[in-house]
This record gives sequence, structure tokens and C-alpha cells, in this order.
Amino acid sequence: MNSKKKLIAGNWKMNGGLAANEALLKAIIAGLGDGAACDVAVAVPAPYLAQVQSLTFGSAVAVASQDVSQHEAGAFTGEMSVAMLKDFGVRYALVGHSERRQYHGESDVVVAEKAQRALAAGLTPIICVGETLQEREAGQTEAVVKRQLAAVIHLNGHCISEVVVAYEPVWAIGTGRTASPEQAQAVHAVLRAQLSAASEHADRIRLLYGGSMNAANAAQLLAQPDIDGGLVGGASLKAPDFLQIIAAAR
Ligand code: 13P
Repeated sequence: MNSKKKLIAGNWKMNGGLAANEALLKAIIAGLGDGAACDVAVAVPAPYLAQVQSLTFGSAVAVASQDVSQHEAGAFTGEMSVAMLKDFGVRYALVGHSERRQYHGESDVVVAEKAQRALAAGLTPIICVGETLQEREAGQTEAVVKRQLAAVIHLNGHCISEVVVAYEPVWAIGTGRTASPEQAQAVHAVLRAQLSAASEHADRIRLLYGGSMNAANAAQLLAQPDIDGGLVGGASLKAPDFLQIIAAAR
């Protein structure tokens, strides 16, 4: 077992609204009371960053973005730069979420550029990897996650130990079909070994599991030796569920 603090990050995806965000965050912050045993973050849609920054100010909840541009500034319509995210107190940036890879054509190379850009600005990238159902059934799980991690493992001038990695099997996202704790741990062990080969500080890197994590299954997943937190979609939109997951992460 390692002793680093776990991280529970909610990924709201394209959900929310001014009133709903306020109710959700107020309930989460009230539920946390004096704080949490783990680190907590919420990755919110960009238009709400200012609102969420002000609602979470002084609380244990850190602000995360769901993406970041690999470019510094300029003619990139629709993109958000690291500097813009930092203006709103963003601490973590999701990078390479499978929905970005799938619907926005993000390649391993782009994901690495984004991670690099985030790190250079002092944001912690949460780099997502994971196989599709087809890849799992073809026995390619290890090869796929290793390829995705290899793309980001040598970040120019930055130590890989500064990142967070999230294993999110695509077949478990939003499907209610969770990887079993053993299935998740097996992949996390592969990722840890790959990180250990690249950095003597690999044990510091938090490896999150994501994919239908919920209040009922979180404790078992989080009890695995190489699962250092969760990246939670649907269940992060309900304060009681998200709080139960946080409580399970000690
Ligand atoms: P669900 O928890 O809704 O399956 O989503 C997981 C996810 O993609 C988090 O980034």
C-alpha cells in the first residue's frame, strides 16, 4: 500500500447549469464539513469556471477543466489556453479523455502536447487512458494502455511524477458496467510498472480509476493497492453519491 493522498475528481462532462451547479457544490462543500481525507476536484464545463471558482473558494474542492489547448494562444477558435484556465484558479486539467479521443480525434501526440502545456504552466494534467470493448475482447488491453501512456511518459523537461493518470476503460464509461476491482487493479499494476521503469518517483503518481464508479462500488475499487482515486462521471452529479465516494477514499 502506498501512503499518498487519494484524489477523487468529478467529471461533470456537458452537464450542469447555474442553478444546478450552485446547489450541487453547496451540498458537496457542506457535506465535506471540515475537509476530506482525500483530495477532491470537479472538472466543470468551461462557461462555469468563474462560477465554480467563486463557489469553491476557500473550500476543499479544487477546480479542474475538462480539456486544455496544446497551443499557447492565437487563432484557435473554441480552444482554452492554460493561461485562461489559470485565471480561474484551475488546478487540474483532464487531458485525453476517451470522449475527446473518440469524438474530437485527439491522438496520442496531441494528448502529450496538451499534458506538456499544462505541466509547463503549473497545472496538473489528469491523463486518461483506456481500451475499448473491442480492444479488450481482442486481448489488446495492455498494449493499448501502454501505447497511450508511452506517448506521455517522456515529457520534455518535466518529470512524469508530476502528472495524474486515469485508467478509464471505455466500455465501463456511462454504461453501469464497472471493471471489477481485480480487472482494474491488473491494468493499474501494468501502468505502475511502466511508470516505475521511467521514473524512480513512480510510486508518487496517482492512478485513478474511472468508469461507472459509484457509491456502492467505490470502496472495493479504492481498496486495490494501485488505485489511488477515482475519476467519476455520472455519480459526481449527485452530492450524496459523490460524498460517499469521497468518504470511501481514505
Ligand atoms: P461515468 O462515471 O459516468 O461512467 O464516467 C466516467 C468518466 O468518463 C469520467 O471521466
